[in-house]
Amino acid sequence: MKTINSYIKKHKPRFLSELIALLKMPSISADSAYKKDVLNTADFILESLKKAGCDKVELCETPGYPIIYGEKIIDKNLPTVLVYGHYDVQPADPIELWDSPPFEPVLKTTDIHPEGAIFARGSCDDKGQMYMHVKALEYMTVTGNLPCNVKFMIEGEEEIGSESLSWFVPRNTEKLANDVILISDTGMIANDIPSITTGLRGLSYVEVEVTGPNRDLHSGLYGGAVANPINILTKMIASLHDKNNHITIPSFYDKVENLSTKERSEMAKAPFSLEKYKAALEIDAVYGEKGYSTNERNSIRPTLDVNGIWGGYTGEGAKTVIASKAYAKISMRLVPNQNWKEITELFKNHFESIAPDTVTVKVTPHHGGQGYVTPIDTIAYQAASRAYQTTFGKTPIPQRSGGSIPIVALFEQELKSKTILMGFGLNSDAIHSPNEHFGVWNYLKGIETIPYFYKYFTELSTK
Ligand code: BES
Ligand code: MN
Ligand code: MN
Repeated sequence: MKTINSYIKKHKPRFLSELIALLKMPSISADSAYKKDVLNTADFILESLKKAGCDKVELCETPGYPIIYGEKIIDKNLPTVLVYGHYDVQPADPIELWDSPPFEPVLKTTDIHPEGAIFARGSCDDKGQMYMHVKALEYMTVTGNLPCNVKFMIEGEEEIGSESLSWFVPRNTEKLANDVILISDTGMIANDIPSITTGLRGLSYVEVEVTGPNRDLHSGLYGGAVANPINILTKMIASLHDKNNHITIPSFYDKVENLSTKERSEMAKAPFSLEKYKAALEIDAVYGEKGYSTNERNSIRPTLDVNGIWGGYTGEGAKTVIASKAYAKISMRLVPNQNWKEITELFKNHFESIAPDTVTVKVTPHHGGQGYVTPIDTIAYQAASRAYQTTFGKTPIPQRSGGSIPIVALFEQELKSKTILMGFGLNSDAIHSPNEHFGVWNYLKGIETIPYFYKYFTELSTK
């Protein structure tokens, strides 16, 4: 593996230009206007896997967007690593908040990324991180450093709930058989503080509709005498947390795992500066459930957040009106053991039960998924840890993340294998936000670190 650094140095311009070409493709899975672009992106991934050295590549049709499968099997007796990633991206809006167009990647330096970062939708989540694996495979095949078998499974619907992949995985368990699943779709603490993500939160996403009168009304003629659905909805939402910011839905916390004092004090050792955290977000104070630290609030504790709320008149100027309907989209982040379908039911029942008889309430579940914890007493974790030690010169810190990749729990259920989350993004990379970016250093560090995971995983597995 002595050649990895010189290989990266030599091919850096091409590694960047290929990623830039991929980032120019607006593969927004949520918006059907981009269907052609999503499909073109799938073709791009297929071609790139072929070029990187896969012996077999397939575009697997599904009820939705295709899944790109690739493999290089060198010896059936050696372990197999299955790489998962996604080629779809979040919508770019609000587009006016971008400093440069989201699908015209530009390279700029920032305080955190003095060596430059690529600004584009999907640069970090997940095209840049997924493509590190393609380039790592290229390195390993070109230089004869691939120590084991590898399979790739890259989907195009992660940002909208991975429905087609949930359909595909149970139908292809033989094809996808593996010894470990490797994913780069999370982050790390900082460029000089490597970490391995050991937990993902689950998710339940619902939409609520509150209906009052049968039509929009003059707010003078009817105001005060008829329930205003927007007033009612906001009151109902406000009641979902108590004064300690604890969620009030009955039984919501029943299955939440309580970490021991020891585990919590281990967690608290991860470097974290509250001052820097506040400064980066330009807030004067943090918020959250009483009795828990900021890091705990966004990883080991469940949450309930309104993601969008609308109704009535929101155009220019003023219109005196009482709307007939009010809406909100609400997400609940869950922790391992909380069952997302059960939580969705609990929410629905509770929300309906707190509705006053002046309105009717409809709750529509969207998607959801289970949380996940990666054990750290495994060969796979050890291999990942050693890989970071080799390329960062530091032992990575295990850290649970607040984000969700719901399909990971399904992988475990269907494929019976564990996932290792080697994320190289930073929280400040603005995924899902305007001006998303991915550090060039991070991109190349990922390409450098991944082959060591293969090496150590194979060595430890065949010992
Ligand atoms: N890559 C993210 C999840 C993520 C990011 C996990 C950073 C940990 C750290 C993924 O693409 C994502 O955005 N997931 C969604 C859930 C999905 C069902 C839409 C999320 O977490 O909101
Ligand atoms: Mn992602
Ligand atoms: Mn995402």
